[in-house]
Amino acid sequence: MQICRNTQAMRDCAADWRRQGQAIAMVPTMGALHQGHLTLVARARDWVAERGGGRVVTSIFVNPTQFGPNEDLDKYPRDEENDLRLLREAGCDAVFLPGVQDIYRPGAQTVVEVTGLSRMLMGRLRPGHFRGVATVVTKLFNIVQPDAATFGEKDYQQLTLIRQMVADLDMPVTIIGVPTVREPDGLAMSSRNRRLTPPDRAASVVLSQALDQAQQMVERGSGVDALRDRITQVLQAEPRGEVQSIDIRDAADLSRITRIARPVVILLAVRFGDVLLIDQRVAHP
Ligand code: PAJ
Repeated sequence: MQICRNTQAMRDCAADWRRQGQAIAMVPTMGALHQGHLTLVARARDWVAERGGGRVVTSIFVNPTQFGPNEDLDKYPRDEENDLRLLREAGCDAVFLPGVQDIYRPGAQTVVEVTGLSRMLMGRLRPGHFRGVATVVTKLFNIVQPDAATFGEKDYQQLTLIRQMVADLDMPVTIIGVPTVREPDGLAMSSRNRRLTPPDRAASVVLSQALDQAQQMVERGSGVDALRDRITQVLQAEPRGEVQSIDIRDAADLSRITRIARPVVILLAVRFGDVLLIDQRVAHP
């Protein structure tokens, strides 16, 4: 596995592979890797294999521009040694580990913003967050020039926004969405989970339980209001969690809906102590 610690090394490595005719699939991450990330690597491996072979690049970069002034950039978990071991075991071919100075050079003036999608939902709670995501993903795509990239459905708004950005800006990258990988009790895997206290960890199962019930209600023809009431009831029955938001949106573009005629996505954000957990479920009427 090659380790590229700056932009030039990464460009050279990817250029070699392209000259050999290898397809390249990329997995952008911020490190602190868990089984969710490794599933994205496996999906990227499968994608290149289906094209007669190719290479998989994972990037690890804790992107400062997607953290707000009061957010946990300094507290973000970092464990390079373990991440590299996991990626080697997962059959990743190269890791891009740039420094902040390498990605954000002084004097830079250009940002990428998906104007509608970045301002709704989580974007309202975290102003500037999705501009940081869109900008860094554009830069990573320009450096690596992958044929495909995998993103988790866990961050559903992020996945939707990347799809929109790639279409709007004619980026020649196939975006592959990967279903959320969960702990045995249903909690969506996240590097934040390790910050939960044991009682909060036990209580956090309420998100996936609420989503299970919601999905069944949609399948049985429930309306939006009844659905929202039921989810609120299930979440509020767990006093350790502070409900931040419950959104029921069109699964394709996250637009508001009043009736459920097409697939919907249910998006939850619940705070346990100072840890904000998010989860989502797509449901078909
Ligand atoms: P990060 O939070 O490290 O997540 C990297 C990728 O892993 C994202 O596509 C995310 O949706 C996916 N992922 C995380 N947990 C998952 C799970 N339990 N199941 C499936 N996929 C999961 O998202 C980011 O980093 C950053 O915003 C990034 C895109 C790298 C830009 O900085």
